[in-house]
Amino acid sequence: MKLKKHLGGIKPYNPGRPIEEVQNMYGLNDVVKLASNENPYGCSQNVQKAIITELNKLSLYPDSRADKLREKLANHIGLNHDQFIFGNGTDELIRMICRAYLGQGTNTVMTDLTFSQYKRNAMIEGAEIREVPHVNGRHDIKGIIDAVDQNTTVVWICNPNNPTGEYVREGELITLLGSLNKDILVVCDEAYYEYVDADDFPDTVSLMKQYPNLMVTRTFSKAYGLAALRIGYGICQKNVVNDLEVVRETFNTSRLAQVAAIAALEDQIFIKECSKRNREELEQFYSFCWRFGLSYFPSQANFIWIDLKRNTNDLVNRLLLKGFIIRPGSQFGCQTSMRITIGSSTQNDDLIAYLSQLLQLPEIVEK
Ligand SMILES: Cc1ncc(COP(=O)(O)O)c(C=O)c1O
Repeated sequence: MKLKKHLGGIKPYNPGRPIEEVQNMYGLNDVVKLASNENPYGCSQNVQKAIITELNKLSLYPDSRADKLREKLANHIGLNHDQFIFGNGTDELIRMICRAYLGQGTNTVMTDLTFSQYKRNAMIEGAEIREVPHVNGRHDIKGIIDAVDQNTTVVWICNPNNPTGEYVREGELITLLGSLNKDILVVCDEAYYEYVDADDFPDTVSLMKQYPNLMVTRTFSKAYGLAALRIGYGICQKNVVNDLEVVRETFNTSRLAQVAAIAALEDQIFIKECSKRNREELEQFYSFCWRFGLSYFPSQANFIWIDLKRNTNDLVNRLLLKGFIIRPGSQFGCQTSMRITIGSSTQNDDLIAYLSQLLQLPEIVEK
C-alpha cells in the first residue's frame, strides 16, 4: 500500500499488557496490573446502577453533545456549559487538538519524558516535534519558552507528569502563559488531577479567565475508575471548543459512558477516599526506595517512577512471571527506571515483598 510518507517511522502506541494475556501466557490465576495507572478500588457503586438503568436504550445513539453530563460538570467545576468538549478518553481529545491545530509547517513543544500520545499524534499530522529535556522529572519552563517560535501552535504540559509524577507549580505555569502569544494553545493535561494534594498546583480553571489560550484536559479513566468506558473532557474557551467540534466524531462518547460519568461525579466521597489511600500507599514505596537506596521522584499522581540503577527489563520480566505487570522504563527511553502504578494495600505489599527479594539476588545486585 502507498502509506503516507511521514507515517512510515511512527510506531503504534504500546499499552500495558492486558491481564487476560498474561494469565493465558503464563497459566497464572492471580495477575496484578500496575502498569496503566488504573484505579485499584474500581469505581463508585453508583455507576453500576446508572448503567443498568440505561441498558434498555442500547439501540439509540447517544446524545452527541452529552448535555446532561455537560450540565453536571459545569455545576461541579463552576463554569459555563459551553466551555466543555468531550472525548472518547482524553486520548481522543489529544488527537482532536493535533488534528485541528497541527500540520506541516507548524511545530509543537513538549517535555522529552512525558505522555507519548502528544508526540505520536503530532507526528501523524506531520508537525515538527520539539522536545525539551526534563530537569529531574520536571518540565523545564524556560527551555519550553525558548523552544517556542512563530510556527508553534500547541504547547503540552502534562501535570502531574506521566511517567515522573512531578508537577509544574502555579508560578511556573503563569510565567509560561505570560511569555507566550495568545494564539498558541497551552494544553494542561490533568489526567491525574484528583490525586493532587500540592498547595502550589495551578488552579487552571481560574487561570483560564486571564489566559484564553489555556486548555485543560481531564479524564474519568483514572481516579473515577471508568477506563473501560472511554470518556474524558476538555475545558477551554468557546472559540477553542468550536475549533475542536469541527474534528470531533459525532457520537464519540457512548450512552453508558455518559451516565456512568454523571453517577461517578456525584460520588465525591469515593474520589476523596481513593486519593487519601493513594497517598498513604505512596509512602510505602518511598520507604522501599529509601531501604534500597533507590532514587525516585515524589509523586502527585497514582504512580511512582523509580530509578533502580540497573537495566530493568530483566526485573520487569521476572515480575511478570510472578503475575505483576509493570511498565519498564525502556518504553520511555530510560533503561534503568520503571513506572509502578500504586495499587491496593495488599497488591503493593506483595509487589514490594517480591521486588525486595529480587533486588537481593546476586545476579541482580551485580547488574
Ligand atoms: C497523562 C495522560 N493523559 C491522558 C491519558 C489518556 O487517558 P484516557 O484516554 O483514558 O482518558 C493518560 C493515560 O494513561 C495519561 O497518562
